[in-house]
Amino acid sequence: METKIKALDRSCLKPEDFKEAVEILKSGGLVAMPTETVYGLAGDAMDEEAAKKIYAAKGRPSDNPLIVHIADEKALYELASDVPREALAAAKRFWPGPLTMILNKSDRVPFGTTGGLSTVAIRFPSDNIANMLIKTSGLYLAAPSANASGRPSTTRAEHVYEDLNGRIPLILDGGSCKIGLESTIIDLSGISSGKKPLILRPGFITKEELEEVIPGIEYDPVVISRKPSENKVAKAPGMKYRHYAPAGTLTIVEGKSEAVVNKINAEAADKKYKRIGILATKETRSLYKGVQYDDETLQNNLKKLRPISLKFEEKTSLGSVGGSIELEDIRQHLSLEEPVIFTVGSREDDASIAAELFEALRNCDELALDVIYSESFEDGPLCQAIMNRLIKAAGYSIVYV
Ligand code: TXA
Ligand code: MG
Repeated sequence: METKIKALDRSCLKPEDFKEAVEILKSGGLVAMPTETVYGLAGDAMDEEAAKKIYAAKGRPSDNPLIVHIADEKALYELASDVPREALAAAKRFWPGPLTMILNKSDRVPFGTTGGLSTVAIRFPSDNIANMLIKTSGLYLAAPSANASGRPSTTRAEHVYEDLNGRIPLILDGGSCKIGLESTIIDLSGISSGKKPLILRPGFITKEELEEVIPGIEYDPVVISRKPSENKVAKAPGMKYRHYAPAGTLTIVEGKSEAVVNKINAEAADKKYKRIGILATKETRSLYKGVQYDDETLQNNLKKLRPISLKFEEKTSLGSVGGSIELEDIRQHLSLEEPVIFTVGSREDDASIAAELFEALRNCDELALDVIYSESFEDGPLCQAIMNRLIKAAGYSIVYV
């Protein structure tokens, strides 16, 4: 299958822009779309066959439920069997926006979309392209993040192409996603039977903000844990899988800034024959020993390597982490004598760290890095969301200095 990328101009969207996408969706096919959080891989949420295609394209286990995207709050009453007052309060405050609510599903929602669960995840995105696609199609769109299962989520159309080229017919390109981390997920499905509201995945909407409309909301303890949980299972099925992981070994180094820099420099110097990456910030990047590409050089290097990483190895199932990247070819095309230092936003604005994290992790893969060190991000309103992704990407490997 040819995968087409269609660039859209957000400032003047026209119904014709969506004609092809709507035709594909209405005939049961899949379209990748931008949202304000990450790119989504969309299909008709009421069509179990479309859900099957989504799982197959991503290489995702089919017990991992999909989020249903809507463009009108009233859809809550069609998709959910009961809508607690907390859900309405959260919708009023945060929708459209990066909040997903889990409610008890109505009979209309097929089990194929919910991974067999009797609950459904619902989100009303604010992105104008996603919004118009939902409205012009007249459908509810089931959409997981548009990455190969296990890899970091996609925040640009190029990333979607890298992971899903040949597997889907169309990608709508709306540029970089503003937020860059997936939505906050809250579970309100147990409220009617006296259970506490829970945050199943931290995101751009913080616990403090949620508490203003849903007093007493708590984190599912598994999602903020710094150690792999032995007996406890995350309540969002997707949170139990290895996730966001680059192909190289990622270690988080946590402590006072100076000690972190010293430790990373020492570790990197010790691993001379490896390809090394360092995830730093604007404030600290000049303290590391290594090469810093300006954005143009980085993009040029990536462009040079992309045709190699796009070669699909049919043998490798997409389910495995790292997908189809042909590491040896990449090594031969771009030799690296020194660690590569990436700037992941600025500590003055943790939204910039959130927005750039997944892209940095993907770039580590594209440069075929073996060993990656990252600073830790414990301050700022988005630290839970950022650390949740980073810790999973590192497989819980954290060094304290
Ligand atoms: O920002 C986002 O939420 C993006 C964009 C595309 O909207 N979507 C996204 O979908 O991140 P996905 O499938 O990659 O992650 C959805 C998470 C998974 O961990 C899944 O297990 C959980 O939501 N989930 C979905 N339905 C659920 C349900 N009924 N109960 C518990 N967890 C659920
Ligand atoms: Mg995902």
